Amino acid sequence: MTQGFRVFRVADKVRESEIITSFYLEPTDGAPVWTVKPGQYLTLRVPNAEGTILKTYSVSCDASEARHHRITVKREAGTNGAPDGIGSSWLHDRIEIGDEIDIAAPRGTFYLNEDSSRPVLLLSGGVGLTPLVSMLHRLQASGRDVYFLHACENGQVHALRDEVLSCENDRTRPLFVYRAPSGADRDAGLFHAEGMIDKAFLQTHVPIGDYDAYICGPTPFMAAMYQLLLELGVRKSQIAYEFFGKATTLEALVEKPAAVAPSKAASRAAPTIQALTFLTDPDAWAADDSAAETVAETALKNTTAPNGDVTFRKSGASAEWDGSAGSLLELAENAGLNPDFSCRAGICNTCKCGLIAGEVEYFEDPLIPPEAGQVLICCARPKGAVVLDI
Ligand SMILES: Cc1cc2nc3c(=O)[nH]c(=O)nc-3n(C[C@H](O)[C@H](O)[C@H](O)COP(=O)(O)OP(=O)(O)OC[C@H]3O[C@@H](n4cnc5c(N)ncnc54)[C@H](O)[C@@H]3O)c2cc1C
Ligand code: FES
Repeated sequence: MTQGFRVFRVADKVRESEIITSFYLEPTDGAPVWTVKPGQYLTLRVPNAEGTILKTYSVSCDASEARHHRITVKREAGTNGAPDGIGSSWLHDRIEIGDEIDIAAPRGTFYLNEDSSRPVLLLSGGVGLTPLVSMLHRLQASGRDVYFLHACENGQVHALRDEVLSCENDRTRPLFVYRAPSGADRDAGLFHAEGMIDKAFLQTHVPIGDYDAYICGPTPFMAAMYQLLLELGVRKSQIAYEFFGKATTLEALVEKPAAVAPSKAASRAAPTIQALTFLTDPDAWAADDSAAETVAETALKNTTAPNGDVTFRKSGASAEWDGSAGSLLELAENAGLNPDFSCRAGICNTCKCGLIAGEVEYFEDPLIPPEAGQVLICCARPKGAVVLDI
């Protein structure tokens, strides 16, 4: 996979709702657009006061689209005097048709499992629909039954409604749930149900069974959907989900408190979040079901990581690498440490720390490789004994 940045020109800018806008991005180098798996995201270089920062946006169009990629971005307005979101307001307010943007190749493991023939449940809240719309397009030729359930506030903020509806057919059923519809929404019949997606709604509209489910949206929405699906008998290994915010790792405290509590001792998540009955390994399939191998598990198996001791020099802690932690970051957290992190995907460099001794290998290539003597611990594993400056 190409890791570097390429320059893309904004070929079109389309307002999708009061707060959401799409950007159609065409490469300027004459080479084809990237190969994208439906659900993956692009990384954009965004100018800020210090230089540039990186922001990630899911590809929202048909991943097979040959001429452009499309991202669909919600404007994050600052509330109570806080500044507007840097990346989203730059795109909305400053970027126009013809402007050029540096973009890195598609990444992420939250993508459609095209080897499966099971029916598909796509569950989104707010702007979280973007990767699922891309999946929806790819599924059109699959012959699989598809339920596209989308929850949002009302018709004013509902993006890509017509595009999703255009995919409706005998096998594809879109359903929209508005929490607070306006009179105009009612008059126009823009939604199928009012309130929240709950168990009764799912039982009424979706013949829940042996599904592949994909969830994306605000954290409370994803938690609620995950729990509902489990209650309705969907296997964890068949539920994939992605966070648009900080890629915090959470565990299923309610379901298996004894089993998961020790490894979550170092979680940075708020206690209320930690108490949720769902797993949140970002970009990954929920991995607590031995019946099926997950995407993340497969990736782990394909890399060799010999046992070795990992020493955390600053804190004086150490831990044995036995392969049960996915990364050096996870190993450190399991050992009770709190290293900085953000994306957990090799993009932001927040987890960068000194590699005092030993060697590591990356199971996800860093977007910007660290200098010699440094390591991104969120996407690295030790090759034998290592000493980290943590
Ligand atoms: C894998 C992935 C895919 C994604 N896909 C999409 C997508 O398809 N579409 C999409 O819209 N987003 C997507 N996101 C989210 C996106 O990457 C950004 O996080 C989002 O646009 C917000 O970034 P920003 O720079 O605009 O806001 P930031 O500058 O990061 O600010 C975030 C929020 O904090 C507030 N804030 C800023 N400073 C302060 C302060 N001092 N005090 C209090 N509040 C403050 C801002 O007002 C804003 O609401 C995705 C994220 C991930 C991880
Ligand atoms: S947490 Fe972002 S690169 Fe490691």
